[in-house]
Amino acid sequence: MRLVLLGAPGSGKGTQAARLKVALEVPHISTGDLLRAAVAAGTPLGLKAKAVMEAGQLVSDAIVLGMLEQRLAQADAQAGFILDGYPRNLAQVQALDDLLARLGQPLEAVVKLKVPSEVIVGRTELRFKAEGRADDHPDTVRKRLAIYAEQTAPVAEYYARAGTLRIVDGVGSLDEVFARILAALSPAVAASALR
Ligand code: AP5
Repeated sequence: MRLVLLGAPGSGKGTQAARLKVALEVPHISTGDLLRAAVAAGTPLGLKAKAVMEAGQLVSDAIVLGMLEQRLAQADAQAGFILDGYPRNLAQVQALDDLLARLGQPLEAVVKLKVPSEVIVGRTELRFKAEGRADDHPDTVRKRLAIYAEQTAPVAEYYARAGTLRIVDGVGSLDEVFARILAALSPAVAASALR
């Protein structure tokens, strides 16, 4: 299964991707996690990305695409993947389409988790207090939400027009949201199993 998980910051993409990777037996590839690992390792790329991420802005398309290409080339991604955090703007949609066409691995499904902004602000504030993730500061979350509305919402509209988008209510217990995602994916999972 080759799946993109879309949704605003804090909508639960990473949480649900961790469960989906077990159910679908494909790796969870989060561009946010890849960038945070580069920051933690102090690589030149990480040093460039750090301030941008802490400000809640998007890292440059070229940097993120380079990282993603390397990750998709690894052996475990050959049987499929769950992409979390990519694509985040229309240029990245095009780059992903081109990359997957070159690899002969087109997307099979796109799921968007729909969560109201006030719920997101509450979730990220809890995580800010518990884990201290810099970009979860309420002021930065507001910036991230504004960037999502301006740059990432058109991505969902693109996939809706292409007929691949499934919208899932992301409010509820982790089990409830997971069951909704599986139900939304069941036609794509069945089609994928036949290939
Ligand atoms: P990234 O890590 O992708 O952050 P994000 O999309 O803003 O996502 P989050 O990790 O905050 O939220 P999530 O939807 O995964 O929710 P989660 O499961 O964690 O990106 C970080 C930064 O990296 C970006 O701002 C940018 O700078 C850069 N970046 C990344 N990709 C990029 C790209 N493609 N291009 C350019 N720059 C890029 O859940 C959030 C919280 O809610 C958790 O505490 C969780 O426990 C809780 N929670 C989850 N589900 C529920 C539920 N059902 N009920 C209650 N609580 C819940």
